[in-house]
Amino acid sequence: MASGQLSREEALECSSSRHACHVMLYSDTASLLFGRTPIRHIVLMQMRFDGLLGFPGGLVDPLEETLEEGLTRELLEELGVAVPVSVEDYVESCFAPSHPPTSSSSSSPLILHFYVKKIEEEQIREIEKAAASTAVDHGLEVLGMVRVPLYSTKSHAGFSCFLSHSFIGNARSQLVDSLLRLHLVSPGELRRALRSSQRMNA
Ligand code: GTP
Ligand code: MN
Ligand code: MN
Ligand code: MN
Ligand code: MN
Ligand code: MN
Repeated sequence: MASGQLSREEALECSSSRHACHVMLYSDTASLLFGRTPIRHIVLMQMRFDGLLGFPGGLVDPLEETLEEGLTRELLEELGVAVPVSVEDYVESCFAPSHPPTSSSSSSPLILHFYVKKIEEEQIREIEKAAASTAVDHGLEVLGMVRVPLYSTKSHAGFSCFLSHSFIGNARSQLVDSLLRLHLVSPGELRRALRSSQRMNA
């Protein structure tokens, strides 16, 4: 395990910590951009109230709900659909990066739990519809769902441009690590995209 990481069991023993769960929902797709560029996979993220990109999910109280029940509750609030997420979809837990150790009162450590779940393209469309209409957090905590472009355009935009935006916590590495692990992008494509996203931010 990488530094800062802990197992689900270790994490749940940290009773004085706060816990948050987020999930990467994705599907396959046969759609072509401009009738020629395969989109291949739809990966859902969201534009948060703070202008940062992140995954749907949120704070969970392990005394009142399991991690997965809490995550499903947050999905109902943020997506308008109670997508059931189970222990089988669990990926990893870690301490929130750059938690300011000096700040007082509210600063019990935050443990971040991450899940990945593959669904059907049709479900993605239903989620997008509900997230923009019936979701109670629409326009409040969540400004909109976004799909991640995994392809590179002729002008070398697309995935690299997406990666050059600002992300909450370690959502960017959760995205990148998951895409690699699930073979949704190749290591070569990722390397090229990371390099050109760095140039965009330079
Ligand atoms: P409230 O309903 O207002 O309590 O928000 P929430 O429960 O939806 O919490 P939120 O989704 O903001 O997540 C809680 C904390 O987890 C955030 O303040 C971030 O520090 C962190 N966080 C949020 N999204 C992500 C994400 O996609 N990945 C990671 N690693 N951390 C995240
Ligand atoms: Mn057009
Ligand atoms: Mn949230
Ligand atoms: Mn929320
Ligand atoms: Mn919440
Ligand atoms: Mn809330």
